[in-house]
Amino acid sequence: MSQPLEIRFASLAAQLSPTTVVLAASGPLFGSKAADLDEQSGGFLMRAAAAADFSGKARQSIEILVAPKLACARILLLGTTPKMTDLDKVHLGGRVLAAIRQRKCDAASVVADLPELSEAGAVGLAVALAEGAALRNYEFNRYRTTLRGDATGGEKSGDENGNGDGRSALKTLIVHTARPEQAAELYCQRSAVAEGVLLARDLVNEPANILGPVEFADRVAALTKVGLDVEILDVPALEKLGMGALLGVAMGSARPARVAIMQWHGAKSKRSKPLCFVGKGVVFDTGGISMKPAAGMEDMKGDMGGAACVTGLMLALAGRKAQVNAVGLIGLVENMPSATAQRPGDIVTSMSGQTIEVLNTDAEGRLVLADVLTYAQEHFKPRLIIDLATLTGAILVALGKEHAGLFSNDDKLAAELSAAGEATGEKVWRLPLGKAYDKMIDSKNADMKNIGGRFAGSITAAQFIQRFIKDTPWVHLDVAGTAMDSNRTDISQGWASGWGVRLLDRFVADGYEKPEKGEK
Ligand code: BES
Ligand code: MN
Ligand code: ZN
Repeated sequence: MSQPLEIRFASLAAQLSPTTVVLAASGPLFGSKAADLDEQSGGFLMRAAAAADFSGKARQSIEILVAPKLACARILLLGTTPKMTDLDKVHLGGRVLAAIRQRKCDAASVVADLPELSEAGAVGLAVALAEGAALRNYEFNRYRTTLRGDATGGEKSGDENGNGDGRSALKTLIVHTARPEQAAELYCQRSAVAEGVLLARDLVNEPANILGPVEFADRVAALTKVGLDVEILDVPALEKLGMGALLGVAMGSARPARVAIMQWHGAKSKRSKPLCFVGKGVVFDTGGISMKPAAGMEDMKGDMGGAACVTGLMLALAGRKAQVNAVGLIGLVENMPSATAQRPGDIVTSMSGQTIEVLNTDAEGRLVLADVLTYAQEHFKPRLIIDLATLTGAILVALGKEHAGLFSNDDKLAAELSAAGEATGEKVWRLPLGKAYDKMIDSKNADMKNIGGRFAGSITAAQFIQRFIKDTPWVHLDVAGTAMDSNRTDISQGWASGWGVRLLDRFVADGYEKPEKGEK
């Protein structure tokens, strides 16, 4: 829901926009393009940098206006970290975009050129900068009517990042690099992933009055246009399947439940077993009859962050034509208190046949996941399953907003996800599972109860989910601390982060696609 930003690649010789960002490495050593500009201006850039005590260190920046003999009116020098990782470069792209957005301009150039980089390394920099810029440009302003179509409004007040003030007139970002064609080709793949992240953010930000289970399913159905096969299961279909756990949660809402299934067939062999991604999609979680306190309840519009991530991931995989078979399945319900809502003490029968005593109607996410996970295994016989859910407040107590909680029955899978987390900055931290924890959800009235008592809340939730996994390598990610109400970073303005799309895309790319697909 941001102003669309066109990102193009051009040669270093191509004309620069009036606003141009030039990167500087430590000690104001510039790349060859910057050196050219400096020379053209008779050494003005270097003199200005020295006068401003600019040393090119990370996060330092200066603005040079109307340097002699240069066509671009404004040059921003931005310091960089030495020996940047790919992730550092993506974050730098976010900072570049933020610096540009603070100025009023509709096109800007960034020179992706640093002295320490080989030509191939410089292409990588160009592509990473573009990705970071695309991610940082996101803003949820769909309902800000005073900003609509406003490209000038200097009088509007925004935040220190140039967001929300109607000033971002930026329509085009030109990334200058020695190999523009190659960068454009590589960026195609990365921009598909960025699109997935932005979709996930949009879904999480959207308020629950607009995005109910049916509306969410409609948005999923629209993804057939990118080549996904989409199937939507309605209430009669869910009843027929026996999804009593999921339907129990939906009982209190006037808005009917849906399960949406997205399939991507990208593997060379149609037979290759799919990877399944399952998401919790509680469009709003009041807690039901076990109602949540009023303070902060509005955040529970984000209780579909797992489902949003799965949807964004499927868009990313389809967009970059990933060579993998993958299925995304999301359970969409609203958890409301009403005359028809389920009660504490109710016993429901899940699709697996196992019965559940619902002692707290606010522990609803696991009920939704239980049935969708059973369906995923029965219908797709997956190679592995990863579920994502804003499942427990306890995961915030344990890990804060820095890591998502990871639970798994498979060490190799857990290690692969940890590695993908380090590479993408979407970090996970493994927590234990075990018999003693499992016992905590035994019930005297049914096969299990849906809460495990005061302690180890995230673990007993994961144990509950594991009772619905049969001989399949499985990972559960508790994303309550990362998908929503998230902190600001260089590439995300906070609240809805789109967390997990880049993580899982990387996990797929690194381990589950044909190697000839080309190294990233
Ligand atoms: N959706 C919440 C978990 C949550 C909390 C997500 C904070 C995002 C931020 C979940 O459905 C829930 O209510 N969990 C309960 C479980 C409890 C009743 C066992 C919780 O965490 O308090
Ligand atoms: Mn809840
Ligand atoms: Zn919930």
